[in-house]
Amino acid sequence: MSTPTSSPASSPAPEPAPVPVRNPLPGGLAGATAVLVGGTSGIGLATGVLLRSVGARVVLVGRDADRLKAAVSRVRGAGPDEDADDAVLGVAGDGADDRTLAEAFDRAGQVDHVLVTAGGIGGVGPVTGLTADDLGAAFDSRLRGAFAAARTVATRLPAGGSLTFSSGILVVRPRAGMSAPLTAAGAVEILTRALAVELAPARLRVNTVRFGRIDTPLLRSQPGLDSDAAVAAAGASAPLGRFGTAEEAAASVLFLMANPYVTGQVVTVDGGETLV
Ligand SMILES: NC(=O)c1ccc[n+]([C@@H]2O[C@H](COP(=O)([O-])OP(=O)(O)OC[C@H]3O[C@@H](n4cnc5c(N)ncnc54)[C@H](OP(=O)(O)O)[C@@H]3O)[C@@H](O)[C@H]2O)c1
Repeated sequence: MSTPTSSPASSPAPEPAPVPVRNPLPGGLAGATAVLVGGTSGIGLATGVLLRSVGARVVLVGRDADRLKAAVSRVRGAGPDEDADDAVLGVAGDGADDRTLAEAFDRAGQVDHVLVTAGGIGGVGPVTGLTADDLGAAFDSRLRGAFAAARTVATRLPAGGSLTFSSGILVVRPRAGMSAPLTAAGAVEILTRALAVELAPARLRVNTVRFGRIDTPLLRSQPGLDSDAAVAAAGASAPLGRFGTAEEAAASVLFLMANPYVTGQVVTVDGGETLV
C-alpha cells in the first residue's frame, strides 16, 4: 500500500489577497452599500444623508416604524431625483437581534460597510445600588448590538468592508453614577481593537468614533437642552464655542468607511472638549 507524501491538510493556507486599494476619499464610497444601525435619527441619519449625497446605497435600521419612514424619505431626498427604488431601504427592528441584521443584508443584496450608532444608556446610578438587572441593562444596550453586528459583518462582508462603532467622551472623562454604562461604552472601544486584529485576515476593518456633545435628538432630550437657545447657551462654554453638528460627526464616519488603511482606531470628534 502506498503512503501519501503530502495531504491537503498539511499544505499551508494560501495567503489572502491584500486589502483592495481604492479611492480613500468619501467620493470613493459611490456605489457602495452601507447598513446604518441607528440610522433613523441624529448621527446615524446624518451619515445616511452624506452617504447618499456621494452616491452610496443606504439601508437604515431602527425600531420605531414612523421614524424609520421619515428617515428613509429624508435620505432619499439627498440623492438624485431619478433614484432607483433600492437606493435607500428601511428595515424596522432591534439592531441587537441577528435576524434584523440578516434581513437588512438580505434586502440590500451586498453590503460593504456597517455603522452602529444604536445603543442607549442603561444601568445609571451609584455603584453601591447597582443590581444584576442594572448591569444587564447597561451591557445589553451597548454590547449585545455590537456583538450582533460583529457576527454579521464577520460572516457577510466582502474583503475591503468596514464596521464602525460609536462611543462617547465620558469614557475618558467619567461622571459619577455612570460606572455601568461607561464600562459598557469603553468595552466597545476594546472590542474595536480586538475585532480589528481578528478580522484583518478577512481584510475587514473595524473602528470607533468617540463623540463629544453633538446636537442631535439624543442631546436635546437631556434636561434643559430642549431649545436652540438652550443648546447655544450650553455649547458656548465648549472650547470652540458650540456643540458639534450631526453632519460634522457623520463626516468622520465617512472618513473611516472610505479610507482602506485605517483599522483598530478610536477617532475622537469632540471640538477639543477632552483637552480642557
Ligand atoms: N449626541 C451626542 O452628544 C453623543 C455623545 C456621545 C456619544 N453619543 C453616542 O452616539 C450614538 C448616536 O447618538 P445620537 O445622538 O445620534 O442618538 P439618537 O439621535 O438618539 O439616535 C439613535 C438612533 O438609534 C436607534 N436605536 C436605538 N436603539 C436601537 C436598537 N436597539 N436597534 C435599532 N436602532 C436603535 C434610534 O431609533 P429607534 O429608537 O427608533 O430604534 C435612533 O435612530 C449613540 O450611541 C450615543 O450614545 C452621542
